[in-house]
Amino acid sequence: MPVHESAQPRIAFCCANTQPEPWLKGLRSAVPGAQVSVWEPGQAIADYAVVWAPPQAFFDEQTQLKAIFNIGAGVDALMRLRLPQGVPVVRLEDAGMAVQMAEYVCQSVIRFFRELDVVESSMRQAKWELRKPRRRKEFPVGVLGLGVLGQRVAQALSHFEFPVLGFSRSPKQVPGVQCFHGESQWMDFLARCRVLVNLLPLTTDTQGILNRQTLSSLMPGAYLVNVARGAHLVEQDLLDLIHSGHMAGATLDVFCEEPLPPQHPFWHEPRLILTPHTSARTLREDTIEQIAGKLAALIKGEKISGQVDLGAGY
Ligand code: NAP
Ligand code: GLV
Repeated sequence: MPVHESAQPRIAFCCANTQPEPWLKGLRSAVPGAQVSVWEPGQAIADYAVVWAPPQAFFDEQTQLKAIFNIGAGVDALMRLRLPQGVPVVRLEDAGMAVQMAEYVCQSVIRFFRELDVVESSMRQAKWELRKPRRRKEFPVGVLGLGVLGQRVAQALSHFEFPVLGFSRSPKQVPGVQCFHGESQWMDFLARCRVLVNLLPLTTDTQGILNRQTLSSLMPGAYLVNVARGAHLVEQDLLDLIHSGHMAGATLDVFCEEPLPPQHPFWHEPRLILTPHTSARTLREDTIEQIAGKLAALIKGEKISGQVDLGAGY
């Protein structure tokens, strides 16, 4: 059954920290006949929602939604809300994010592997010093989460000939990647990783998964690249393991509190590379094109990909 047969779908736009005008213009041109408006309390009822971290009041008022489109890959902010029952939640799938994530993670892993931080620091002190080359086979990289982004990252890393391992909930086959899954293979996976890249969704199962026990199970001198969500990491555990020398460093793009507060100890730890949640940005044109395509398919009664499994939380 088509979810909505009107030729003039009403779309409510409710996205935190997002300039609405270019989105409204883009959505109007990509969804012919659509009535698109920024949601305000007490506003007219819509058929479809385009959201990023909306308030609960939005869903309390919008009682006739036929689908909810999230303009990001992660839906953890939505999963914390009371959502209308039986309404599909559709997340962003790639839409230009996977290549950004691949370039961000590869530069980070290569920076650690080639010790570019040490090299740069020597050069700044006018010291011409060569580092002993590290052996690639002693630098296995584990990618936690083998979904849309994790698979792209794992394959990009394998092109640089790092040994690449991957971990997911269900079994996977990814060319060039040694795949692990499920609880029984967890410790084996960790013990083989020198670098751990986190690309898991934030769910009740994965919150705090990057903790003392997990990080201590990596090879000595390990590195972490967290590009998923801040709440995956127990931040003090990482600092303790850096101070003990077990962890050699980390690249962190996401934090428990964002923006990272000025008094946070991360700012003063030189073995951390910090970026402001920017590893894979939502690209407006690609995102609008993906949403418009899926909306048209739903109207025709066709199946679409990227529907969130509300039970699993991603
Ligand atoms: P996805 O396609 O849904 O992939 C999620 C992967 O995680 C799947 O392989 C899934 O396993 C695995 N997984 C889920 N729960 C697990 C568990 N408990 N144990 C082991 N594996 C588990 O998601 P995606 O599009 O790749 O995005 C991943 C995350 O990246 C998003 O949720 C978001 O938080 C983050 N992100 C961050 C940025 C940024 O700028 N920092 C940008 C975009 C996205 P199965 O395959 O078996 O289901
Ligand atoms: C960004 O963090 C996203 O989930 O798309």
